[in-house]
Amino acid sequence: MDSGLEDIVAAETVLSDVDGQNGRLIIRGWPVEMLAASMAFEDVAHLLWQGFFDDLPDVAELGARIGAAREEVFDLVADLPAGLDGVSYLRAGWALLPDDESIETAIRLAAAGPVLTAAAVRRRRGEGAIAPDRGLSQSTDFLRMLTGNQAGQAEARALDAYLVTVCDHGLNASTFAARVVASTRAGLVSAAVAGISALKGPLHGGAPGPVLDMIDAIGSPANAERWIEGALNRGDRLMGFGHRVYRVRDPRADALKAAVARLPGTTGRLEFAEHIEQAILGRLAAKYPKRRLETNVEFYTALLLEALGLPREAFTAVFACGRVLGWTAHAREQIGEGRLVRPRSVYRGPVPAAA
Ligand code: ACO
Repeated sequence: MDSGLEDIVAAETVLSDVDGQNGRLIIRGWPVEMLAASMAFEDVAHLLWQGFFDDLPDVAELGARIGAAREEVFDLVADLPAGLDGVSYLRAGWALLPDDESIETAIRLAAAGPVLTAAAVRRRRGEGAIAPDRGLSQSTDFLRMLTGNQAGQAEARALDAYLVTVCDHGLNASTFAARVVASTRAGLVSAAVAGISALKGPLHGGAPGPVLDMIDAIGSPANAERWIEGALNRGDRLMGFGHRVYRVRDPRADALKAAVARLPGTTGRLEFAEHIEQAILGRLAAKYPKRRLETNVEFYTALLLEALGLPREAFTAVFACGRVLGWTAHAREQIGEGRLVRPRSVYRGPVPAAA
């Protein structure tokens, strides 16, 4: 029995390999750093989905179909209440999509991510949602739907780097949840809704908003050591640090740090964050000398999404906009296995009195 399932292998996958000892992440043969530096969302959708849908179009046609689907799903916005946080809005909107295991459904889920997340952000602020433009790339259109302005190339590139970096990551909690649901043949929409529900927790994809709360609470470099010590003495977990699989630095942290550094105007914020990071790593090493706790993906996610002007309550929804590619690919892989996921438990409750 292993309550966190940490040493249990529950799937074979061709999608990604998380090497926790050496800090390497391979996604369909590509090191994550290379994906982050060179690929757009549409390229990685094609990369992850190939082999799982017989009717997958080529990458250009796939991009066009994702763009067209953004326009189709915009009608969902009218059915959702304003005022929800990003994840709640995206989850509710995804749940309204027709559910099956087809490529159309995977495309609709991918397309709806930015449309619903941008609408959630704007409507929560009392602004109207902006309709999608199928002629733009997913990341460029995402930023335009958020701000109303044409996105700069550097910003769109940075968002692509983020979405691509988080597209898949082995059998993490949300992907496992998606695979369990897919194994019941409930459909890709159900799998994605399960995935986002697992992602939302602060121990998984809910961490980047609290990372910024922590940076704000620290306030100045001079306050870092005192604040961190206080938090650890209270038994708090420091968001953006530690990982179930990595025993060294999460490779996605540096891929995202590089993406932040390429954005104009981020130098001062980045220096402050690096100072905090070093202080935290020092304290964690002193507190846990035998269990190396390192920076994970969420620390620089927070910096990147902040630099792109996203509000922190939408960070996890943006994460889901990238990870939905992995959830749908894993769902199809699990369906291909043809096996219902159904583990067992050990009963420790009362037994009926002997007659
Ligand atoms: N801050 C302080 N202490 C920590 C942290 C942290 N970030 N992470 C782990 N610890 C402590 C644990 O409390 C535990 O202490 P204990 O032995 O005194 O009880 C010890 O370090 C060992 O913990 P692990 O076994 O490494 O933790 P686990 O594998 O259960 O948890 C997790 C991994 C959930 C990511 C954890 O490190 C954490 O809570 N981090 C903060 C939240 C976060 O950044 N989440 C995003 C993860 S990345 C992702 O999912 C996309």
